[in-house]
Parts: sequence; structure tokens; C-alpha cells
Amino acid sequence: MQTGQGYAIEDKTMRMTMEKTKRRVKISSIGVYVPPKILTNADLEKMVDTSDEWIITRTGIRERHLADESQATSDLCLEAARRALDQASLKIDDVDLILVATSSPDTLFPSTACWVQKGLEATEIPAFDLSAGCTGFLYGMIVAESLILNGTCRRVLLIGGELLSKITNWKDRATCVLFGDAAGAVILEESPDESGIISFFWQADGRLADLLYLPAGGTRRPASEETVRQGLHYISMKGNEVFKHAVRRMGEAALEALKRAGLKPEDVTHFIPHQANIRIIEATGERLKLPPEKVYTNIDRYGNVSVASIPLCLEELRAGGKLKKGDIILMDAFGAGFTWAAIVYRW
Ligand code: UT7
Repeated sequence: MQTGQGYAIEDKTMRMTMEKTKRRVKISSIGVYVPPKILTNADLEKMVDTSDEWIITRTGIRERHLADESQATSDLCLEAARRALDQASLKIDDVDLILVATSSPDTLFPSTACWVQKGLEATEIPAFDLSAGCTGFLYGMIVAESLILNGTCRRVLLIGGELLSKITNWKDRATCVLFGDAAGAVILEESPDESGIISFFWQADGRLADLLYLPAGGTRRPASEETVRQGLHYISMKGNEVFKHAVRRMGEAALEALKRAGLKPEDVTHFIPHQANIRIIEATGERLKLPPEKVYTNIDRYGNVSVASIPLCLEELRAGGKLKKGDIILMDAFGAGFTWAAIVYRW
């Protein structure tokens, strides 16, 4: 069945997955911020019972960047946002909404977006956070697209910012070798041409929530001496379980989004997967039968920076002159929730 807005809606899955056939929303600028301090695998060998060899072969990570003690997530987001505004020669007054995707907010409330708003001195535009684990940046693009297309916003400043080092247990070798800190910001607005979001696919399964979560500090398990003693304010993850779901769902999401776009894997110019583990990335690339040169990776240099990983990859490709007008970019992510999503985008 076709609706009046050009969306194809056939069944439950299709309702969550819209193929847009007319107006498009595009990224008009990107800004990223990565804190300068680097923690190498050799540094980690001195902290926990691990080895450079194990980390590289099991994850693909060589080093990660960490924020310093004085920084909060909004500080990273602020820097990325300023760079995105500068790149577009825009002021914050030209933006109608600040949307921050994060799982490591400055405070439970107000939102990190409001702290960013304060830093940008942008009073009276709406600002809020979106929590969708590592998939948050793609969820944010999907939400922003619809706000722009329905006329609520002209421009959205979307920031994926994460400061995971402050919620990581540095004594737990199973998690502390994985994560890094970074932020990536984009400005989204209506496209004057064919470039922009062509299609997307997004889903979640809360039944699997406790395979990757922050056990304490919320209303389920408020902070107490006991929760602190047990280290429940740190990331808890059943890594090998998460791994299996990530491989399955990222493959499915990518294929569904491509189908909605009327495209095939061979039409993809650049595949940008969430950078959680090189083995997940390679398995997904193989499922899509993509040659390795089309699969972008930078996990060796940053580790898993959650919502910042896709904008960081995009900006590296852009700054390296590798994005050409008309290129088809497939973005794909999986994270806590579980959540997963893919977007097909024409540059
Ligand atoms: O971004 C959101 C989504 N997150 C993800 O997608 C992460 C998904 N999971 C993963 O990337 C992988 O599961 C990990 C990298 C976290 C772990 O790799 P794995 O191959 O699944 O290892 P495992 O957890 O099954 O552990 C295998 C062995 C265990 O030892 P035994 O029981 O076989 O003796 C672990 O204790 O590796 C051990 N191990 C380590 N050894 C050295 C776990 N962490 C380490 C470590 N160094 N850092």
C-alpha cells in the first residue's frame, strides 16, 4: 500500500522501515572531537591481565583516546558542535534543535543536550537527549529527518557524544580494553537535490537489555554504598552474547535498508559499520559480499566510541577526499537495548 507521503507501508516491518521517494534530508556539515590523550594496548598490559596480541586479534583495537578528568560528555559534544557549525559557516541561532545521542550523559537530568546548549549560549531552542546505545547516532538521524520533513525544524544539530572511560571498570579486562571517548556532530537540513537519506531500517529488542547495560545509578538500582562497592556503576556486558546478536542484526538491518532503497550491496560505495569489533565488521562485510576496500574501519585507532563511531568514520572519509557526489553510503549500527539500525545515504 502506498501512502500519500510517498512511504511504502505493507506490513509491521514496513511500518518501521520507510522508503522515502521524494524530499530528502542531508548532512550539510560534520565536526568531530577526539580527546588527545592516548591509551595503548601496551599501557593496558600494565593495568590488567591482557596482551596486545589478544586485544588486536579478538577486537582489532590498537589504541583508544580518553578524555581527561575535568571533561564531561557535553565538553566533547560542544567541541564537535562548534566544528560542525564552523564548517557550515553557521551560528547556533541558525539551528532549530539540539539533539544529543549518548549513553554516558553528564547528569541523569537535565539532558546533555541542555548542557551543550548552555555552552553554545543558544537559549530557547529545544534540546533533548536520545538513548539508543551505540545505535543512537542513526536513530538520531532518523528522528531528525522526520522533524525536518514535517516542517518542525529547518536545521537540526545532531551530536553523538560518549565519555565511556568514566563508566568503565578499569579492573575488568573483558570491557576496559574496548572503549574510547569521542564526539561527532552533524548539521542536518533539507536537501536541494537527490543527496541525503534514501532509506532506513530501525528496530529494538528490550528482552535482551541485560546483556549490555549499566546496572546501577538509575531508579531500578539507585546509587548506594553497596552498588558502588560491587562496581555496578560500570558497563556490564556479556561480550560473546552481544557479539552473536550484533553480527546477525547488523547484516539484517543493512540488507533491509538497501531493499527499501531499491539498491543492492554492489551499489554501495562505502560501508560504514559501527566500530565495536573488527570481527563483527568483517563478518557483516562478508555477509553483504562487499570487498574489504568498501568497508571503512578506524577501530584500530579509537576502539569502540559508541555513538561517535559513525560520524568519526564519515568525517575521516570526507576530510580524506574520499566522498564523491552521488556515492552510496551504507551506515549500520548495533548497541545496548538491543537496538540496531541502518541508513542508506546518497552523498
Ligand atoms: O558497541 C555495542 C556492541 N558491543 C559489541 O558489539 C561487543 C561485542 N563483543 C565483542 O566484541 C567480544 O565478545 C569481546 C571482544 C568483548 C570478547 O571477545 P570474545 O572472543 O567473545 O571473548 P570471550 O568473552 O568469549 O572470552 C574468551 C576468553 C576468556 O577466557 P577463557 O574463559 O576462555 O579462559 C576470557 O576470560 O578470553 C578471555 N578474555 C581476555 N583475555 C585477555 C576476555 N577479555 C580478555 C582480555 N585479555 N582483555
